[in-house]
Amino acid sequence: MKSIMIFDLDHKQLGADLKTMISRHYDNPLLMNLKGEIHFDMPLSKAEVDVVGNMWSIFNNNSLPKSVYIPCGGTMRHVPYLLQNGITNAVVADLSGMSLQMGRKRYGYLFKNNVSIYQADIRDTHVFMGHCQGGFPLAILMGNSLGDVTDEQGHMEFIGALSDALRPGGMLVFDYVSDGYNPLPGETLDTTWPEVLIKDNGTKQHVFDRRTRTYQPIDDDSGILHLTCEVRGHDQEVIVPHHPYTKRIVKLNLLTQQFAEVGMTLRHMGSIENHSAYHRRRNETTNDLGMMGKPNQLFVAIKN
Ligand SMILES: C[S@@+](CC[C@H](N)C(=O)[O-])C[C@H]1O[C@@H](n2cnc3c(N)ncnc32)[C@H](O)[C@@H]1O
Repeated sequence: MKSIMIFDLDHKQLGADLKTMISRHYDNPLLMNLKGEIHFDMPLSKAEVDVVGNMWSIFNNNSLPKSVYIPCGGTMRHVPYLLQNGITNAVVADLSGMSLQMGRKRYGYLFKNNVSIYQADIRDTHVFMGHCQGGFPLAILMGNSLGDVTDEQGHMEFIGALSDALRPGGMLVFDYVSDGYNPLPGETLDTTWPEVLIKDNGTKQHVFDRRTRTYQPIDDDSGILHLTCEVRGHDQEVIVPHHPYTKRIVKLNLLTQQFAEVGMTLRHMGSIENHSAYHRRRNETTNDLGMMGKPNQLFVAIKN
């Protein structure tokens, strides 16, 4: 199995806000190990890979290509199913060393020389482009990762880098909640729900995960969703300290324009639950997917 290649994490593009968010929110083994979180949710990951396979066959009329790029790949939870689908060259990039290490520990035994892992900013495309001369045919960006770079210029660089990684005709499949999870203007939504923390020794602890959400518009078409997160045990003891994180919200019209600016045609495929029986069932029965549930939308972007 290949090791994780670490690339220039002090790159000038990496703003202080993004650095802090990665270290507090994504480099956090306790948050990764909450049962309701996406990071090791294998049925969810399989359902998402199935959706990607369907999108590929609708637009290309054949089975998945051999090479796939997985920007913001996190714990690499999609990779086992991609390998099962015949992928022989999977390239993962993510800033969170902890996510990559935890994923490598969990799934690494399945990887051979067919998975290349980079701890890098996806905007540094030159780092991994050598793995697919002429650009990748397919990229997969799941888990509502599109909004993580919140400053205007950084966000456009992020979208530009997704385009740069693809060959002409190449396809990006991603999910994005856009404004679907926003509270009303001026309102702060405060939600606490029971969670289960899976500890390293396999034991379980019942905890409470509290999140707040406030929307700060930038203009009519975009804004920042400010969230906070805190996890406590039943005796109120702090498990994950209170910390903020943010998502850039871009409404559909502007998102279409932004993709056009970087040479891609955006197709909104509707709610992801319309493409996945698993999502539908989970939304109807437990409704515990939060922003990954009902509001989550599916997009395909094709490089011109
Ligand atoms: C919500 S998680 C989703 C992870 C994964 N896509 C999934 O579906 O499980 C977002 C991930 O994006 C990563 N990330 C955010 N901005 C990034 C950037 N500019 N370059 C590389 N990774 C980034 C974070 O470290 C985090 O692992």
